[in-house]
Amino acid sequence: MSIVLITGASGLIGSEAASFFAARGFDVVGVDNDMRRYFFGEDGSTAWRRTMLERSLRGYRHVDADIRDEGAIDRLFAGHGSDIALVIHTAAQPSHDWAAREPITDFTVNANGTLVLLEMTRRHCPEAPFIFTSTNKVYGDTPNRLPLVETETRWTVEEGHPFSQHGIDETMSIDSTMHSVFGASKVAADVMVQEYGRYFGMKTACFRGGCLTGPGHSGAELHGFLSYLVKCAVTGRPYTIFGYKGKQVRDNIHSFDLVNAFWQFFSAPRSGEVYNLGGGPTSNCSMLEAIAIVERLTGRPMSWTYSDINRAGDHIWWVSDLRKFQQHYPEWRLTYSLERTIEEIHAEMTERAGHPRS
Ligand SMILES: NC(=O)c1ccc[n+]([C@@H]2O[C@H](COP(=O)([O-])OP(=O)(O)OC[C@H]3O[C@@H](n4cnc5c(N)ncnc54)[C@H](O)[C@@H]3O)[C@@H](O)[C@H]2O)c1
Repeated sequence: MSIVLITGASGLIGSEAASFFAARGFDVVGVDNDMRRYFFGEDGSTAWRRTMLERSLRGYRHVDADIRDEGAIDRLFAGHGSDIALVIHTAAQPSHDWAAREPITDFTVNANGTLVLLEMTRRHCPEAPFIFTSTNKVYGDTPNRLPLVETETRWTVEEGHPFSQHGIDETMSIDSTMHSVFGASKVAADVMVQEYGRYFGMKTACFRGGCLTGPGHSGAELHGFLSYLVKCAVTGRPYTIFGYKGKQVRDNIHSFDLVNAFWQFFSAPRSGEVYNLGGGPTSNCSMLEAIAIVERLTGRPMSWTYSDINRAGDHIWWVSDLRKFQQHYPEWRLTYSLERTIEEIHAEMTERAGHPRS
């Protein structure tokens, strides 16, 4: 038996991964306790995705456990042992802003939870590749020190700078920077994932995401920017832009394209790798540009306001350089344009607004 064990299975990336690997004949064990509802309220609950997975995937088993619960996770891994062919760890407290409310919760979920999973993998299925969804926040606010130029709708990097054409690569330092509480807990996890590769020789990788997005996101004000933006546009809820004149740039990758990268890594795993992975130079937008795209789709103006308060440590410009991953895995490429991604989110949100799911 070949099992893919996925944490955060009801979340955006976890549920995409569950569908992807189930479609390729794997049994999937998904761990998720809907803690996103605790973080972000009803908007954030991922219960609807769990229901969807349980109804639609043959060979899917859901485990309602907390990744911090060492005993429960140990029993789960022990029950499957070397049948586990791959571990995809996506469960997290994912919000920069929420982390400052409860640093202990944030750190124990992101750092301790990751350590529990690494250790159980080492104990029960050390040959299984271990994929971790890290974040570009491990670089802290260092990207804000790039020479930035303001244009009508966005910030951009001065022409001629090494990052201006292809984006930011993995050589950027993760030291001497303000990470935010969230960034620090993810750095702890990221470094430990690398260490289980280097020190113990396991096949581990950190995918340092830009904005990960898609119709499977349970967008909330504090996390899931495009999903929440489209939700506001569809329901008429007012949207607030925080700081940087709305010209801050994020690169956006569809969850399918990220999971397809996981597949490539699984097919030819390496040890202790880090990859920046997002929409890269071809799939990125500022807040103002995202609003313009969404308004074109809905055919009406969005209701939004501007708050001059910058979120501490928020990136002004982030575009991932995808070339290291592409060099290691030349078959991988982005299949979604930004517009197509937003169209899919819009279609899903419209359906959900008309037929709310519990
Ligand atoms: N979405 C983004 O823009 C983005 C960007 C960079 C990195 N990431 C990282 O990618 C990963 C996946 O992101 P996502 O957008 O799919 O998140 P998500 O919130 O949609 O999914 C995470 C899931 O984990 C579950 N979970 C949280 N704490 C748990 C716990 N203690 N035990 C068991 N389950 C728990 C939640 O209920 C949720 O369903 C996270 O690690 C996040 O930090 C996300």
